[in-house]
Amino acid sequence: MFHSIAIDGPAGAGKSTIAKKAAAALGFIYVDTGAMYRAMALYCLRKKISPDREEQIGDACARIDITIAYEDGVQQIILDGENVTALIRTEEVGNMASAIAVLPAVRTKLVELQRSLAQKADVIMDGRDIGTYVLPNANLKIYLTASAKERANRRYLELTEKGRICDRDEIEKDIIERDNRDMNREFAPLRQAEDAVMIDSSDMTIEQVVGAILDEYGRIA
Ligand code: DC
Repeated sequence: MFHSIAIDGPAGAGKSTIAKKAAAALGFIYVDTGAMYRAMALYCLRKKISPDREEQIGDACARIDITIAYEDGVQQIILDGENVTALIRTEEVGNMASAIAVLPAVRTKLVELQRSLAQKADVIMDGRDIGTYVLPNANLKIYLTASAKERANRRYLELTEKGRICDRDEIEKDIIERDNRDMNREFAPLRQAEDAVMIDSSDMTIEQVVGAILDEYGRIA
């Protein structure tokens, strides 16, 4: 039996940075499930399929192939044979991912891939519904959150560091909108699993959060 750690939480809480570090410390594979929704979103954007065309998206789910691979330990996301890892990190793709993630056809397809990965290796998997739906028997479940203001601030700093011009309030508005959609959808919404440990990272450093997760895991492993 392989071990699994589920990390769920809203956009910008630091899940991927923290999950990557914890995975490296434990020798686990890091699985970024958001990247899978983003790859699906990229496909829809390229094909100009609007998120309300449920039937068309359902057909696309049956047709397209999304897989992951690892290069030097870094997850790569492959869409119909094309490595799209570098193309999915835009706000446009993120918003589209959140919009199509409400559709059962999309979730069913990607959850199957996520569960199959957890059957083959020790994983730290991050997303929105990992502890509540994808891996209900995960050895450890973390609900990682931070205030919307702090999450917007982090995103703003990340973008301005890359030389992008952006508006902090606009980013916060986007984050709140995305939270609402992710938390209020009917199918597998974002919420804290009953047996998840809640960590609010608003006033914590990355190292402190990673340390807290490793401590929790140490207690149960
Ligand atoms: O974590 P992220 O920002 O890369 O995720 C993009 C969107 O994908 C997010 O707004 C909601 C959706 N998502 C989801 O519904 N379930 C997951 N397990 C992961 C992501």
